[in-house]
This record gives sequence, C-alpha cells and structure tokens, in this order.
Amino acid sequence: MTDVRESMYLVSEFAKDYFNSTLLNSEEGKAIGLSYFKERGFTNETIKKFSLGYSPETWDALTKEALGKGYKLEFLESTGLTIAREDRPFDRFKGRVMFPIESMSGRVLGFGGRILTNDKKAAKYLNSPESDIYHKSKVLYGIFQAKQSIAKLNNCYLVEGYTDVIQFNQAGIENVVASSGTALTPDQIRLINRLTRNITVLFDGDAAGLRASVRGIDLILEEGMNVRVCAFPDGEDPDSFARKTSYEDLVAYLEENSKDFIQFKASLLMKEAKNDPIKKADLIRDMVVSISKIPDRIQREIYTQECARIMDISEQVLVSTLAQLIQKDL
Ligand code: CTP
Ligand code: MN
Ligand code: MN
Ligand code: MN
Ligand code: MN
Repeated sequence: MTDVRESMYLVSEFAKDYFNSTLLNSEEGKAIGLSYFKERGFTNETIKKFSLGYSPETWDALTKEALGKGYKLEFLESTGLTIAREDRPFDRFKGRVMFPIESMSGRVLGFGGRILTNDKKAAKYLNSPESDIYHKSKVLYGIFQAKQSIAKLNNCYLVEGYTDVIQFNQAGIENVVASSGTALTPDQIRLINRLTRNITVLFDGDAAGLRASVRGIDLILEEGMNVRVCAFPDGEDPDSFARKTSYEDLVAYLEENSKDFIQFKASLLMKEAKNDPIKKADLIRDMVVSISKIPDRIQREIYTQECARIMDISEQVLVSTLAQLIQKDL
C-alpha cells in the first residue's frame, strides 16, 4: 500500500462521513436528500447500511470542510472529489444523493451521485472518475455488504444499479451486487468467483437490459461459472419490482423465473419468432456459440444435450457446429 493510495482512501472515507452526516443533520440534506430517499422507500437502517449521503448545492462545501480538517488538496483532486481550478477549486458532487462505492473489504473507492429529479435530459448519475483507487471495471457495488451472504447461499444476484442492490437488501435478499451500468467485465466476474461459482443475472426489463444479459452470459460462461437469468416484466427493474412485492412473492418470482442460459435464450425465441425457421436457426447457432465458451467439456456436453432437446434438433448437428467453433478458437 503506497502512501498516496492510503491518503486517497482516507479522504474518501472522510467524504462518505461528510455526505452521510449532511444528509442526516443539515436542513438542506434533510429537506432534499432524506426526503428523496424516503420517497423511494429507503429506511434509516438501509441508509446506514449503505452509508448513503447528500452533497449540498454549495460550490465547495466538501472541499472546504476537508481542507479545514487537514486533508490535502492533492488527494481531494486525485480522487475526483474536488475539481481543480487555480483560483478556487470546487466540488464535483453538488445537490445529489450520494452512494459510496466500497471494495470487498469495505474501503471507500469512489461515489455515484444521483440528481433528484427524473429530468431525462440531465445525466442521472455522476460517478467518480477513474483514479489510482477507483477502477470502475473492477468494482461491484454492494460487494462488501453482500460477500457473506453470497458465500453462504452459494449464489450471487447480479443487477444493474445502485438502487436495485439497496432495495433487494431492504427486502431481505443480501446476496446481490451491481455492475453499475457499465458493460460487465471479466474482472467483475472474477470478483464474484472468489465467493461462488453461481451467478443469476437480474437486469432491467428493457431492451438495454436484455442485450446486457445476453452479453453477460457468454462472459460468465467463459470464466467457467454457472449462469442463470431471471427476466423482469417490461419497464420494471429489480428495485421497482421488489418495492411492490412482498418478500415471499419476490423469492417465489426469482425461483420460478430463473432459467439456465439455454432456457432463457429459448424463451426469447418464443417471444420473437415462434415459427420462423431462419430465426430459429440463428438462435440455435447463437446458443452453440455460448456453449463453446464453456471451458469444461462435460458441461459442454450436458448443455448440448439440453439445447438439442429444447430446440428439437439433432445432437449430432450441434456437436459438429460446436466442434467447428472450438477448432476456430484454438
Ligand atoms: N448509470 C450511470 N450513469 C447514468 C445512468 C446509469 O452511471 N447516466 C449507472 C448507475 O450505476 C445506475 C445503473 O447504471 O444505477 C443502472 O442505470 P438505470 O437503470 O438507468 O438506473 P437505476 O439504477 O434504475 O436508477 P434509478 O432507479 O435511480 O433511476
Ligand atoms: Mn491502479
Ligand atoms: Mn436500465
Ligand atoms: Mn434500472
Ligand atoms: Mn431504477
């Protein structure tokens, strides 16, 4: 651990506490931030568990406070909390509710800050920039709170967003982490792999979520892990769905709708192109591509059998297609 990174962790920890106490104790924080979280149904316990916060509208509230406490401008800048300007450095996050992003061991690496409106023109979330301590392709939001539950239940739910993680926790499901909107990466998958070999992908019920799920499947298979997918109704994400569903119904929904990737892809076909032979052929090829990503030969064989059965096609033709793909890979 270099001194530089340690200093960056310390100032990030300070900022987390500052935003949290601003949320809970300042007039502006209570009136704007806290009421926003309450409207989303977050309890005090949840706010505490995820150290949620609020960054005031002021030009340099955090920067000033941190400098006053002896934190160095250098580290405020390198963490992206403060934006350099020769005459007057200013805060990156202003007038936003704050989500600290923590490492597996609970160190603060960066922040996501959400605007308080649903204005479609403004960027909804602003995130910390890449830095020596924050690499967005290598972190999973919620991993610190989730790690024990993931190991114990031997499964990890993977969602898109901060609020999906939080709402699931509040519903009583703790084995959940978010890729935070970025395209899922091998580093993120390997982080989960330290805790379990089983991932259930729960992306948003929209076109983007569907695309991300399909892409995620192959990446997870390539890491030699097991992947299931549970789709949400159109327009719902895990947060909105969990919020209006009881714990029992949520658990039942997840159980009934989690499918292995062959079943999941087959269900896409049912929706899109029931009797179109060309689309069916495309989809079968696509399934075989996914199967070809699996490192273990026996698992490949099992999924090949399943694919043949579900898609009603001979195993032989799948095996030969698979052989060509794997050959190409060598
Ligand atoms: N995201 C981001 N920047 C954006 C939009 C999204 O970083 N401009 C990331 C955030 O981590 C967000 C995730 O992508 O949580 C998923 O995006 P989206 O589904 O649009 O947001 P929600 O998590 O559903 O947020 P909310 O419910 O607050 O609208
Ligand atoms: Mn680095
Ligand atoms: Mn989305
Ligand atoms: Mn969403
Ligand atoms: Mn949402």
